[in-house]
Amino acid sequence: FGKPLILLDKTTSTQEDARQLAEEGASEGTLVISEEQTGGRGRMGKKFYSPRGKGIWMSLVLRPKQPLHLTQQLTLLTGVAVCRAIAKCTGVQMDIKWPNDILFQGKKVCGILLESATEDERVRYCIAGIGISANLKESDFPEDLRSVATSVRMAGGTAVNRTELIQSIMAEMEGLYQLYNEQGFTPIASLWEALSGSVGREVHVQTARERFSGMATGLNRDGALLVRNQAGELIPVYSGDIFFDT
Ligand code: BTN
Repeated sequence: FGKPLILLDKTTSTQEDARQLAEEGASEGTLVISEEQTGGRGRMGKKFYSPRGKGIWMSLVLRPKQPLHLTQQLTLLTGVAVCRAIAKCTGVQMDIKWPNDILFQGKKVCGILLESATEDERVRYCIAGIGISANLKESDFPEDLRSVATSVRMAGGTAVNRTELIQSIMAEMEGLYQLYNEQGFTPIASLWEALSGSVGREVHVQTARERFSGMATGLNRDGALLVRNQAGELIPVYSGDIFFDT
């Protein structure tokens, strides 16, 4: 993964660039990286802060063979890859908040956005977008983000080599993707659960339809988060957000 590599100085969103390349037939593993995004996008229509020079803003083209309802598994796989790569490059162990934020001491370091293009339930391609506040300092964040966001540099105490971190993420992605294609989601789910800061905790769940609280117990075979509600029922959460009482 990471070949071919398209390096940009400035773009609206690497998601759009990668999508266009995929439409034009770009092969699996094609990676678009930009120094800066002027219209970085997060999940659920949110903006994603992507300033010049200190972050890692990149999008990877995947062409999975699995059906559409399983693409959530790729989101989780990407989170595992980033978490492992950060640990390898810096020695700092972060955790994953379901579905895909990488947190250090409760503050967000990385967000992942997985988007799919489909045709009759068949996945044509996926774009795995990864945004990491690699070397931002506290003063580089707008004030409203300072209480909720941090960076690899702030967590580890020293700047991280962005090229090495990107190479490490690609190596992890490639290895995990191969494991996934050979053995399915079960080994990925175990790795995710071990890195998760959500499993075994009381969580508040917000989906498009409802809000409830309960104990997160793990993942089901599709990659949904299992939450035991107050009535003792195990509810699979396929999309939405979770919150903790701090
Ligand atoms: C989230 O936290 O909600 C997901 C954030 C994903 C951000 C990355 S940065 C590279 C790629 N381009 C975008 O516009 N978004 C993703």
